[in-house]
Amino acid sequence: MSSARPIALAFVLAVAAGTAFAAGDPARGQRAYQKCFACHSLVAGERNLQGPSLVGVWGRRAGALADFEYSAALVEAGRERDLRWDAATLDAFLADPQRAVPGIAMGFFGIKDAAERADLIAYLKAVAR
Ligand code: HEC
Repeated sequence: MSSARPIALAFVLAVAAGTAFAAGDPARGQRAYQKCFACHSLVAGERNLQGPSLVGVWGRRAGALADFEYSAALVEAGRERDLRWDAATLDAFLADPQRAVPGIAMGFFGIKDAAERADLIAYLKAVAR
């Protein structure tokens, strides 16, 4: 049983790399970020808006900003599931926030288009480190 897992995982990663987050374009992603900027700042030192600042979100544990009042669901996802924001977790999250983190208090339904998500993630990777 267990010997099959690495193969399955490698397959999933290869498929994901081939589609979702290989060819993201940060310039297009910056335009896609217009769906987010009303709620999320990307300016260092700027206060949290309705959503937490995304400055430094790349690699950050979910629900980890001390000065933002997160839902219990997001804090728990970070602490219990060790959810951290990278290309794979952001892709799943942005596709369907409620499914990735049930009970999350983010008023956003998600982005169905995988290419748009890849662009947005490339943008976040470039600016939100
Ligand atoms: C209507 C406001 C709103 C919009 C639009 C929105 N968000 Fe959010 N976002 C939130 C809120 C509020 C939270 C915190 C949710 C919680 O505590 O459950 C959040 C949480 C997050 C987190 C987790 C941050 C952390 O510190 O763990 C990420 C990442 C994120 N949003 C990215 C995005 C992206 C990218 C977009 C655009 C596609 C977006 N959001 C659109 C309000 C919004």
